[in-house]
Amino acid sequence: MTATAPIRVAVTGAAGQIGYATLFRLASGEIFGAHRPVILHLIEVPPVMAALDGIQMELDDCAFPTLAGVKKFDSDHLEDAFRDVNFVILVGSVPRKQGMERADLIRINGPIFTSTGKAIQAAAAKDVRIVVVGNPCNTNCLIAMSHAPDVPRDRWFAMTRLDQNRAVAQLAQKSGRPTASISNVAIWGNHSATQYPDFVNAKIDGKPATSVITDHAWLKGDFITTVQQRGAAVIKARGASSAASAANAALDTVKSVIRPTAAGDCFSAAVWSDGNHYGIEAGLVTGFPLTSDGTNWRVAPGFQVDDFSKSQIDKTIAELKQERDTVRDLLP
Ligand code: NAI
Repeated sequence: MTATAPIRVAVTGAAGQIGYATLFRLASGEIFGAHRPVILHLIEVPPVMAALDGIQMELDDCAFPTLAGVKKFDSDHLEDAFRDVNFVILVGSVPRKQGMERADLIRINGPIFTSTGKAIQAAAAKDVRIVVVGNPCNTNCLIAMSHAPDVPRDRWFAMTRLDQNRAVAQLAQKSGRPTASISNVAIWGNHSATQYPDFVNAKIDGKPATSVITDHAWLKGDFITTVQQRGAAVIKARGASSAASAANAALDTVKSVIRPTAAGDCFSAAVWSDGNHYGIEAGLVTGFPLTSDGTNWRVAPGFQVDDFSKSQIDKTIAELKQERDTVRDLLP
């Protein structure tokens, strides 16, 4: 791909709340640069295709100089939808309904990601990178990547960035410092209520957050639960789940992968564990602190994992193992 070749970006669930909030910023030049044309592949289930016509009209009506094309696909034709795409944002999935257990959701959404993985492998560009947003995103990512063995594992990310951004906001508010002062915030484990937002390694104005925020009971208590329960709090207040902030986090994930990470900072995403980092077993898609050089990423070394952090990480890893066991029959 040359610098001015169009970048093709596929978004599933494109007519949903997160998809809608994602597309315009992808088209605007904000993410891939003012000189990189973007071709969007919008993907939806057949009954929702008409809504994509309206979204296309709105994209046209923005007259973005960077938008070089909009293509619409239904989810019955995934290979066409993913043909030659360089980035895929997998949002499309069935949301959890009242009375539905997490395990039910996993069983309903899992099969969507089986066919998605196969189609990405069959049709996407050689440099494809994938961000899984649809929940349960870690396990959906594990399923999809398992059905695309020829796509290198380091191309797959499940989204824990919204949790990172929520943690940054909490630390900023508690310390009275701007969000730009907060760095090195990692989310370990599952994107769920068991996740561990890591305050031990977080920094405020370059200093340990634990030295700036002296209320350690808050860090170990309300800070963690507020981040873990933030999605539910938004639903309660707004009557709908996080959408603009989730779209923003998906786009932050893409930006963090394709741009170098600032020295001393990290970004958060769930990636394939190869068993070589922080004692976390291989074969799970789990949140880690990452750094990127703009092309390749790695798990950030040198994070301190004290006894408190270890017990938190163990809990969320146990949940991920349980989720993996729930979908074992979907893993080749
Ligand atoms: P939504 O219900 O507004 O939109 C989902 C869209 O996906 C719908 O338009 C639906 O028609 C479409 N869809 C369903 N199955 C599909 C398939 N097989 N192929 C293509 N499209 C399909 O939901 P919303 O609010 O946009 O959320 C989407 C997902 O993102 C949910 O699973 C939600 O739990 C998850 N989410 C994840 C977050 C994270 O931090 N990882 C944060 C917030 C939401």
